[in-house]
Amino acid sequence: MNLARKRLTRKLLAIFATPVVLGFVLTGVVSLRTIRTSLVESSERALADNIATLRTAALPIAAKGQTEEAAALVERVADEETVHGVAFYDERGAPFARSSALVNAPSALDVMAARAVSLGASSHGTVRVGDEEVLVHVEPVRDAPGLGAVVMTRELGPIDRMIDLALIRLALTGGAAALCVSLIAIWISRVLGREWGNLVHAVDRVAAGDLDVRVEASPRLELDRVARAINDMTRSLAETREKLLAAEAERTELAARMRHAQALAVVGQVAGSFAHEIGSPLNTILGWSRLSAADEDLPGPVRAQFETIAAQCERIRRIVQRMLDVSRPPTDHVVPVELADVVRDVTAFLAPDLRVRRIDLRLRVAERLPPIVAVRDRLLQVVMNLCINAIQAQPGGGTLRISLALDDADPEREPRLRLEVADAGPGIPEDKRSQVFELFYSTKVEIGGTGLGLPIVADVVRDLGGRVEIADAPEGGALFRVLLPAASSAR
Ligand SMILES: Nc1ncnc2c1ncn2[C@@H]1O[C@H](COP(=O)(O)OP(=O)(O)OP(=O)(O)O)[C@@H](O)[C@H]1O
Ligand SMILES: [Mg+2]
Repeated sequence: MNLARKRLTRKLLAIFATPVVLGFVLTGVVSLRTIRTSLVESSERALADNIATLRTAALPIAAKGQTEEAAALVERVADEETVHGVAFYDERGAPFARSSALVNAPSALDVMAARAVSLGASSHGTVRVGDEEVLVHVEPVRDAPGLGAVVMTRELGPIDRMIDLALIRLALTGGAAALCVSLIAIWISRVLGREWGNLVHAVDRVAAGDLDVRVEASPRLELDRVARAINDMTRSLAETREKLLAAEAERTELAARMRHAQALAVVGQVAGSFAHEIGSPLNTILGWSRLSAADEDLPGPVRAQFETIAAQCERIRRIVQRMLDVSRPPTDHVVPVELADVVRDVTAFLAPDLRVRRIDLRLRVAERLPPIVAVRDRLLQVVMNLCINAIQAQPGGGTLRISLALDDADPEREPRLRLEVADAGPGIPEDKRSQVFELFYSTKVEIGGTGLGLPIVADVVRDLGGRVEIADAPEGGALFRVLLPAASSAR
């Protein structure tokens, strides 16, 4: 028996059995007292009646002073079933005939008789004679020579024995009734206990934070309604928790995007003033270096050094230009853009590079794809950055595999375009896949990598309501998958 059922049994027992037991005790005590009182009263009335008859018989005997006849009369009357004892008292209040039961009667009896004689009023009460308590009735006799009072007693024992018997019967009936209601309480707790225990257990689990709890209960005593109420409550709590978690996640995501956008803005400002400050001196150094490198009057090694200076200046200019490019806010308008055209433009632009680096281009573009509503240059930045990264990841040659198709994996969703750019380079380890999207994270510092390409890609794609994933390419390298909502659902 589980704890909840035990508790239920205890409560039901208290609720059912206590009033029954109390009811029996109270009504028993009250009714037995009343019964005893009325029995005693009727005994007293019987005594009074008996005395009236006895007095009539005693008058002539007393008048003649016939003590022996008086003794015989009291013994005869005392032999009757309902009479305990009989006694005659004379005009002075002294006993002159007593039945054997009253021979050793206490003085209290004589006192009662003497008082009745002197006051001329009847009285009744109880006195103890031997081990027995008896009911006494004293009747004064006026103006009768030789007779002052007649006393008659009656045993109280039979009445008390009747009351004791009634008490035992009452106790037995009360016990049986208490047993019956206890059995009913135990039966109810058995029938309901399991379901009640389930409900209590479910509420305990909800209180501990488990909102997946679902309870079932039968319609007995409306328990199914309680179960439904608990289920509705946990469901609505779970929904509220879901909403709170979703709102929190959205808030965190928004904060991250804002930090990202602010960082890009700072990059743009720094790059702008940087380009402005070093632009002129850099151009001067570059110009003079080129001129000197082309000066045939200078010795070969010196010209080579100028060549190096010019090349490094070019690199610095490229880096600054790139920082400007990526951070400059787009000026174009948002229009429906054919992503397939963007992909073709980028591959056409990179074709000479691919040839030099012996990278095999495998392009697969699906027919009749829906457009994407976006700023064209921003989409160009996405494709370009992914392709350049793929090229840079394969310095010794390899494969650039680009595929563009409709993503119809989930028919429930709005149509999306899936662009995949894969290479046969070293790939990106799992634990680095979120890091590569961080601003300024780059493993290509020596070749002028700024760590801005992928953050820009992520930013543009997110702005269009899409997402970027990294996976393993079939050739072993990295595979970047970009999912973008198509025109009908684009933001
Ligand atoms: N196709 C790829 N294969 C392997 N690693 C890659 C690939 N693409 C990106 N990475 C890793 O992610 C890093 C960040 O790329 P990201 O394009 O942001 O910057 P970058 O290429 O280093 O510099 P930038 O693009 O600004 O010139 C790279 O330095 C490289 O370590
Ligand atoms: Mg890059």
